[in-house]
Amino acid sequence: MEIHRYEKGWLFVALLFIVGLVATVVYGAVVAGVDMVGDRGGALANPQDPTESPDFRDPGVYCNDDRSSCDVYVLARRFFFQPGTAQPIRVPAGSNVTFHLTSPDVLHGFEVVGTNVNVMAVPGQSAVFSVTFDDTGEYDVVCNEYCGSGHHTMEGRIEVVP
Ligand code: CUA
Repeated sequence: MEIHRYEKGWLFVALLFIVGLVATVVYGAVVAGVDMVGDRGGALANPQDPTESPDFRDPGVYCNDDRSSCDVYVLARRFFFQPGTAQPIRVPAGSNVTFHLTSPDVLHGFEVVGTNVNVMAVPGQSAVFSVTFDDTGEYDVVCNEYCGSGHHTMEGRIEVVP
């Protein structure tokens, strides 16, 4: 039996898509590398209680004396950021801010609206990422992983001060 000319053509196109798909996955994993949670952060000693890990014993903002760099330890939990919701995360403009993010309960998101910061807070894992806010101002932080009945109310704020 003979395969129709057009059918052959479309089979070839479908094959091309499959090869292309596999190629992008291989490229992402091997060539470009995958910078995922855990690469810079890592596993916490006790996933149920991040405060048992030295990093998250006292969540908050810690800047060096000349305020050129800060470390911010954030717990994303149902349904608030600590710090971030009850009190804003206050960092100096131009400072190299390294966030350390985790969750003591379920998966949450940490998106800084208007920037390319969009990180998952994974229970038992510390996500570490750095941001420099060039200008003073306020940024909203939202959770964009569905985390329960209060998900839509889970938001925080970053204040970039002079
Ligand atoms: Cu936390 Cu959605």
